[in-house]
Amino acid sequence: MKTFEPKSIIEPFRVRSVEPIRFSTLEQREAALAKAGYNPFLLRAEDVLIDLLTDSGTGAMSSRQWAGMIASDESYAGASSFYRFEHAVQDVTGFKHVIPAHQGRAAEHILFATIANPGQVIPSNAHFDTTRAHIERQGAQARDLPCVQSQDPKLNYPFKGDMDVDALRTTIEEVGAARIPAVMMTVTNNACGGQPVSMANVRAASALARAHGIPFIIDACRFAENAWFIKTREPGYEGAKPIEIARQMFSLADGCTMSAKKDGMSNIGGFLALNDDQLAARCRNLEILTEGFPTYGGMAGYDLEAVAQGLYEALDEGYLRYRIRSIEYLGEKLLAAAIPIVQPTGGHAVYIDARALLPHISPLQYPAWSLNNGLYLVGGVRGVEIGSVMFGRQPDGSERIAALDLVRLAFPRRVYTQSHVDYLAEVILEVAAQKADLPGYRIVEEAAVLRHFTARLQPIDAAAPIGG
Ligand code: F0G
Repeated sequence: MKTFEPKSIIEPFRVRSVEPIRFSTLEQREAALAKAGYNPFLLRAEDVLIDLLTDSGTGAMSSRQWAGMIASDESYAGASSFYRFEHAVQDVTGFKHVIPAHQGRAAEHILFATIANPGQVIPSNAHFDTTRAHIERQGAQARDLPCVQSQDPKLNYPFKGDMDVDALRTTIEEVGAARIPAVMMTVTNNACGGQPVSMANVRAASALARAHGIPFIIDACRFAENAWFIKTREPGYEGAKPIEIARQMFSLADGCTMSAKKDGMSNIGGFLALNDDQLAARCRNLEILTEGFPTYGGMAGYDLEAVAQGLYEALDEGYLRYRIRSIEYLGEKLLAAAIPIVQPTGGHAVYIDARALLPHISPLQYPAWSLNNGLYLVGGVRGVEIGSVMFGRQPDGSERIAALDLVRLAFPRRVYTQSHVDYLAEVILEVAAQKADLPGYRIVEEAAVLRHFTARLQPIDAAAPIGG
């Protein structure tokens, strides 16, 4: 017999516990969306059929994770669950000090409240919005230095998440190393389409930061997905295991912040990991104040167990092959139907270029918002707008068009199957076929900051009353 090389990449698990999803009619969805002020964030999740709002904390856990959770140690101090968690984080990252936190932004809060001060600058390939907010809260500036290739959605380039290292050099010269408490690198780069960062780029940015005595910190939320892209796209890593690639990447850094709700395969949790003894001691002091005793830091013992196991499952080759392939599979179906998407597809989501798809809706009538609502109305699918509703309101109160108007369809880990993805592609193609009927929107009620979460909107060509 010959070795069989199957073309089908199947889900590398079987399902032993199921959660029903609820089908609804177009009329029911129209009523639900109107009641939610045409804002999908305000929908009840039970009214959504396929929920692609985020890949954060929405994954399915394995039987091994559940087993660890049942056997957890809930002691306040020194729980054995903490030591399993600490061992797993040290084994994967190599960092000396492991400071648990209830999610990624809590780790960011502890780090930046400790290191960032007014007048300082913290460069990154691109900061996630909570990271930016924590830096700005300290009076410091969060500066994005994405590579030029990331700015063209259609450009097919393997590492569009990279940092512009020349821009980092210029920033260090201009600002001065003394005013830069850290250089950050987000892997994969969520703000730039879930695009990966190459090892060469991590190495170059790290070398530059370290040459100036600046700590180099990785935002590691999707470190395992990034490792898979390095393995499959960067010459020299074909034969390396994802865990070896991850270890090499972390060895180039002085610490990391982590939301374990992504590649920790957990529903909640995170950590800050550091090598510097004194910095870690200062961070632990703040942790006690805001998160809890340093051996639980805002997590239950069972959460620590889930992450300790989840970090290894996220690095499993069979899992990563399936994970990245399922995103790519949707991307291929959309490209075949000439639906404009950010190319190549990234690690955790497909991003549809709504401005390109819906040229009849002007950017300040929010084409990506309209497309996302169209996906919900036609197929019960919920994504998220990453565009002018999310980014348009400026601190001075003016409104500016965002760089891109995208709909992000983020895949929860191990939750949906290939037939869900086939259905999803069908819904998107159907919405594209009906696109002339998609309306622009205007905002009728909004909060001063982060308005997209709670804003209420109205379709522009329909005088339908809002609320109910
Ligand atoms: N960094 C990145 C790159 C993220 O994508 C997120 C969260 C965080 C930090 C913060 O982590 O949510 O655990 O506090 N991203 C989610 C998303 C919310 O939908 O992309 P958290």
